[in-house]
Amino acid sequence: MLYPDGFKFGVATSSAQVEGCGLDGDRGPSIWDVFALRPGAIAGGATPGKNACDSYRLFDVDLWNMIDLGVNACRMSISWGRVFPQGTGQLNQAGADYYRRCFEKLLSAGITPNVTLYHWDLPQALEDKGGWMNRDSVYWFQEYADRMFRLYGDIVSTWVTVNEPIATYVGYGLGAFAPGYTNKRWGNQARHNVMTASGAGVEAFRSSGAKGEIGVVIDIWKRVPLTDAPEDLALAKDEDEENWKFYTDRLLGTGYSRYILDKFEKEGTLMDMKDEDFRLTNLPIDFYGMNYYNTVPVTVKTERELASGGNFAEDRRVSHPEKLSDVLKVIIGMYGLKIPVYITENGFGHSGVEAVDPATGIIQDDDRIDYLKGAVASVESLLKDGIDLRGYYLWTLMDNFEWTAGNTFKYGLLHTDFSTSRRTWKKSAYWYRNYIRNARGN
Ligand code: NOJ
Repeated sequence: MLYPDGFKFGVATSSAQVEGCGLDGDRGPSIWDVFALRPGAIAGGATPGKNACDSYRLFDVDLWNMIDLGVNACRMSISWGRVFPQGTGQLNQAGADYYRRCFEKLLSAGITPNVTLYHWDLPQALEDKGGWMNRDSVYWFQEYADRMFRLYGDIVSTWVTVNEPIATYVGYGLGAFAPGYTNKRWGNQARHNVMTASGAGVEAFRSSGAKGEIGVVIDIWKRVPLTDAPEDLALAKDEDEENWKFYTDRLLGTGYSRYILDKFEKEGTLMDMKDEDFRLTNLPIDFYGMNYYNTVPVTVKTERELASGGNFAEDRRVSHPEKLSDVLKVIIGMYGLKIPVYITENGFGHSGVEAVDPATGIIQDDDRIDYLKGAVASVESLLKDGIDLRGYYLWTLMDNFEWTAGNTFKYGLLHTDFSTSRRTWKKSAYWYRNYIRNARGN
């Protein structure tokens, strides 16, 4: 059998995207609750409190769906503000109990929880103190992480410190995510600090004595120059440096590249850094989690120029699931990576209305199935090539709160009706269930 015993076939979610139920259970608001109130910030005026899936109340339904899908792993995140409404200090027992129940139920169903500590929902109370721009965020995060390891270290064995740290840059530098600032210097400081915090989380994990493994999730959107023109090659390099190498160089390599440091210095956007920051990110991690969705063709030419040159064959919106393996091999080669890898997210988003079969009422998301077939073929090829890949987590269990896109972008295997919270299986959910069954040989 191609898939080794114990290989994780999972689905992935995150707290702010699925828990919903407003601030029930005394959850402290996150930066996304506040950002969502800004007129025009989120498509359709959606909010995480109202337009997620109410999993805080309906976790059992999600559990049954996962059991039915046949997954043996679930990647989920803890809402920092649910356990610490103020970010630090007093634990909210109702929040702590909620996650313990979730983890226990998953385990009793044979589903291993893979728990992310930070999936973008910083408590607003900490944002009020400067959020990720404040160097103290490293200690706030370390305290939170330490408490989580001590609370759940007996039942959770796979941990992620931070998911896609680029989100802090998008939030402080570009304004498209919470908390909505548009200052590149701030963005660079925030993304530097969140990386340091991740290292501080690893340090806390080791000293807590918790068993298991801890890693970091970095998304790779590899740039592909559309032409061989030097300007296109330079643009692809620049975007690679900004969008993912910033994080991987520091986490998996020896530190930031000369290129990015020189660039920031020239722009006047260089962040404050301490030696201690790098000591923390140099602490060994147990696995690398790669989120892969697509590659990104880049060119300095406008679409009009490309079209008139007859060279627009390569639609920039085309999906390349099959490139998952190439991209992972780039990372492994670039850093001589020796630690195991999980594909911590992979999936297909749909912005339109998904077609329904009138006879069965089942959503016919064949485009998602095609994408997933390409992705799992790529995963299979990695295993054949002997890559130490331990799991594949499909994003996502059900349509949810897709950040700035609100409910307009759907990634779910299950459809969510946001007015009733009812979940229904799409054709892709049946496909994934069959794929897992076949892969396990039963
Ligand atoms: C990556 C993020 O981790 C997740 O929160 C998001 O919903 C998916 N990408 C899809 O955009």
